[in-house]
Amino acid sequence: MTNKIMYFIANWKMYGNLKSLNTLDKVIRFSKSKEIKKGRLIYCPPYTLISSFLKKFENCLIDIGGQNCHESEDYGSHTGFVNSKMLKSSGANYVILGHSENRQKGETDKLINLKIKSAIKSKLKVIFCIGETLSEKKRKKTKSILSKQIKLGLKKIKKKSNIFVAYEPVWSIGTGKIPKIDELEQTVEFIKKKFKGKLPKILYGGSVNPENIRNLKKITNLDGFLIGGASQNSKKFIDIVKKTYN
Ligand code: 13P
Repeated sequence: MTNKIMYFIANWKMYGNLKSLNTLDKVIRFSKSKEIKKGRLIYCPPYTLISSFLKKFENCLIDIGGQNCHESEDYGSHTGFVNSKMLKSSGANYVILGHSENRQKGETDKLINLKIKSAIKSKLKVIFCIGETLSEKKRKKTKSILSKQIKLGLKKIKKKSNIFVAYEPVWSIGTGKIPKIDELEQTVEFIKKKFKGKLPKILYGGSVNPENIRNLKKITNLDGFLIGGASQNSKKFIDIVKKTYN
């Protein structure tokens, strides 16, 4: 049973509309109850819902993040994009960067590095996603892939106190599969060793649900979870938090 501060970050991806707001009442009640213990809840809805979520969470401690941002710190002609300044001014305090779904669409480590720098300048906390694909795992490349993603993604970034590293194996996202617990523990330890001085917070993401959380919470060197599918169901999301602490 853990007693430490744990972060539960809901990544809604490209889901949700104004009707979804009603489903948050349960979570709001839960966030005000003693049952939340030291859990910190952060929702990353699509951009279109950030201001509505913010209004909904007005009287509670649930925080908000965006799911990506443009690398430019300036306003400019970039149809369809928002930058970190705009995210911050919309009320978001976090941003997810380097998600594998965006890496697969061509986001490079270099681009992710620029985005992270811009997010830090805008005073956003960064949820920096890293993870290997199935073929990389099979070829025993996990460590070298993670090392490269960390090295290039965080290049020339000295202050890492506002960075959360989210280890999300690509083969685990949306598949129901999670790594073996001892393997995951070793990988988290490996990631921590990449950092000198103050360690960033480390999250795990990939098919986290109310059933497998009983196993995942055994990994004591984790600081929380980045949750996709299950986070859109308030009951499941609450169950994950409750089971982490019980
Ligand atoms: P799932 O929890 O749906 O596997 O998604 C994980 C994820 O990609 C969170 O960023």
